Amino acid sequence: MKLATLMSGSGLAIILSLFAPVMQAQSTPAPTPPMGWNSWNHFAEHVTDKDVRAAADALVSSGMRDAGYVYVNIDDTWEGQRDAQGYIHPNKKFPDMKALADYVHSRGLKLGIYSSPGAKTCAGYEGSLGHEKQDAEMYAKWGVDYLKYDLCSYTKNLKDQAGDDHAKAQQVMLQVYTTMHDALQAAGRPIVLSLCQYGWEAVWRWGAETGGSLWRTTGDIEDSYASMEKIGFSQAGLAKFAGPGHWNDPDMLEVGNGGMSKDEYISHMTLWAMLAAPLLAGNDLAKMSEETKTILMNREVIAVDQDAAGHQGDRVYTEGPLEVWSKPLADGSLAVAIFSRWRMPLDFDVPMSKLGYGATEPVKARDLWAHRDLDPIVGSFHTTLRPHSVVLLRLSR
Ligand code: GLA
Repeated sequence: MKLATLMSGSGLAIILSLFAPVMQAQSTPAPTPPMGWNSWNHFAEHVTDKDVRAAADALVSSGMRDAGYVYVNIDDTWEGQRDAQGYIHPNKKFPDMKALADYVHSRGLKLGIYSSPGAKTCAGYEGSLGHEKQDAEMYAKWGVDYLKYDLCSYTKNLKDQAGDDHAKAQQVMLQVYTTMHDALQAAGRPIVLSLCQYGWEAVWRWGAETGGSLWRTTGDIEDSYASMEKIGFSQAGLAKFAGPGHWNDPDMLEVGNGGMSKDEYISHMTLWAMLAAPLLAGNDLAKMSEETKTILMNREVIAVDQDAAGHQGDRVYTEGPLEVWSKPLADGSLAVAIFSRWRMPLDFDVPMSKLGYGATEPVKARDLWAHRDLDPIVGSFHTTLRPHSVVLLRLSR
């Protein structure tokens, strides 16, 4: 017998409301921050079907897939022409999108694609304006699992409609992203919707209302410490807007692209994990060094990012270029990252009281980059930080 026939009126409503958060968490396509790879940071407009297959192969052979990196996301420049009925087709760099999706799926991975609510994408290719429903249907038909939807030329439409009225601009963006979300839903395939509009109008406050699973909070990342630290540390205060199924997105990873030192890439990976950010590698996976693999596949760090509680970490305090961040984890432990943004080595003491522990309380600690348990910390934690480096600890009582 169905529950509904056993219960009636307010009793049923109370029972259903108790289960609502569970049901919601199960139905979201992104219960934890999405992990995978995206073509843009390394291949940009040169990406081809062959590169995407090579990335899929490398995700499997490197062990990245098994560490959680499952999305293979094609960024801008795959788009070709529309046919007489208005359906989009890929350009000659991608001869058969359905076959590519089948290949990616056969490797135990998922396929992502890219479009814009505007008439043109950022690289000047065909956008979805006026064809949202048809595009969603086509993506579903191909077997796409993820869509990055990038404002691009819609910026002009936005200006025309909203002028300098910020409330109106927010309303317009809410509407265009909801339109695509609803089109994807109607197409009948679970597809993660990733909003990309560079954080405009404080998208973290309303992004989830569109039905999207994540939203870019910043402009584009570049492969330099200056760009990474500017974006990453600017995320302080956004923690309360993220949670299971809806994530702040400070942009893709640059680890392995060559513009930062090992300590800088470790800081990048650590900060993104503390931020519960999507972990979308942006390097050439087919030509990864052992160092890059070690950084991207540190499972203890990935576990911080993917923690089931879904809390985004936040800044605890700063002392000039020293930054202390924490992230509460599902098992009651606390991830603590101590970053130095300074260009010279620095000694630093972090009082345990700042992290919520008693002055004489012994705190268990594990160093997640050294992969070793430390002696219990009492009173304060002392460390020497190399330039642009980080210490990442998992603390528990
Ligand atoms: C914008 C986005 C980038 C990338 C490019 C592609 O700049 O923010 O992440 O998708 O467009 O043209």
